[in-house]
Amino acid sequence: MREPPEGIRRLPEQYFTALLARVAAAATAEGEPLIDLGRGNPEIGPPEHVVRALTEAASRPDVHGYAPFAGLAVLKEAVAVRYRDVYGVELDPTREIAVLPGTKTGLIEFALCTVESRGTIVLPDPGYPDYFSAVALAGATHAPFSGFDVRADAMYLNFPSNPTAATVPTGLFEEAVRWAELSEAWILHDFAYADLVFDGRRPHSFLAVEGARKVGIELFSMSKSYGMAGWRLGFALGNAELVHRIEVLQDHLFAGIFRPVQEAGVAALTGPQDSVEKRRATYERRRARALAALGEIEACSEGTFFVWFRLPTEVTVESLLVEHRLAVAPGEGFGARGEGWARLSLAVSDETLDLGLERLRAAFA
Ligand SMILES: Cc1ncc(COP(=O)(O)O)c(C=O)c1O
Repeated sequence: MREPPEGIRRLPEQYFTALLARVAAAATAEGEPLIDLGRGNPEIGPPEHVVRALTEAASRPDVHGYAPFAGLAVLKEAVAVRYRDVYGVELDPTREIAVLPGTKTGLIEFALCTVESRGTIVLPDPGYPDYFSAVALAGATHAPFSGFDVRADAMYLNFPSNPTAATVPTGLFEEAVRWAELSEAWILHDFAYADLVFDGRRPHSFLAVEGARKVGIELFSMSKSYGMAGWRLGFALGNAELVHRIEVLQDHLFAGIFRPVQEAGVAALTGPQDSVEKRRATYERRRARALAALGEIEACSEGTFFVWFRLPTEVTVESLLVEHRLAVAPGEGFGARGEGWARLSLAVSDETLDLGLERLRAAFA
């Protein structure tokens, strides 16, 4: 076998690929059908008018060539309107918004566009595992977040957080902006779960904080708010210089996004918005059931479609899988500070969730 180049060698094992493989292997063992609360894959698709916009656009003859590399202007305008109306942030769609083939791509692009190799990137711990991949591909090193007295070139923030399901603490974005100004560092705020917040909380965009767009960008995804995860559509918004760098990088990496997907994105952003609230309320309702099942166990779920909970000492993710036929995501895969914790997903049907919670209760009894 030939040795791959360093960037590829440094890539960590992809957490979700490994998790899926482990769950699939366990599912083949004898016993009750496995219940999978390990994955965060939205189970409710987009509203019907969005699917219709896709199929109608795809049946036109003029949409099958290369789409404009930088994305449709009308799509950028549509997301700018959402940012103004819902998050209170005014953006210039021509300079401050890039269209992405899903925000997962943007996580990597940000690192490539900001940090020299051997630079340092601060990551949430526990945090979304793909941030490690971004650091590896940029040839950088990572440091776990432990406050703002750190020297680094860039920082990833993520609220509501995957996996901890916490919303942003008061003042944290403001502190982050001050830190970035002083350290001449860049910030990426991953806003993938923007609208999925509970208990009457309002979504908090990083860009609503004064000075934020001087030091960073925010990623907004169509995957969670609109149930369009498989469609691969998202945005990088904020700092015009970084948005430009990302668009230049994408000119080399991709040749635009299938036009009907972008047009359907416009339909999602400009059409009726009741599905966003309905989805949010569904997860909040399920979250209440999950917290009730966890009882006295320490747990957090202020937003997202996850519940983050501490495993009782006698229970492990492996024992849940093998003895109770229940898959949850092990906390240590999200960073060293996740050890002893686990994440369960509410993005499953009510029936699946109830079965899973029954098994959780049995395991904790
Ligand atoms: C925290 C976080 N960021 C980013 C993503 C990527 O989202 P997408 O690429 O579908 O926009 C996910 C997906 O699960 C996520 O949980």
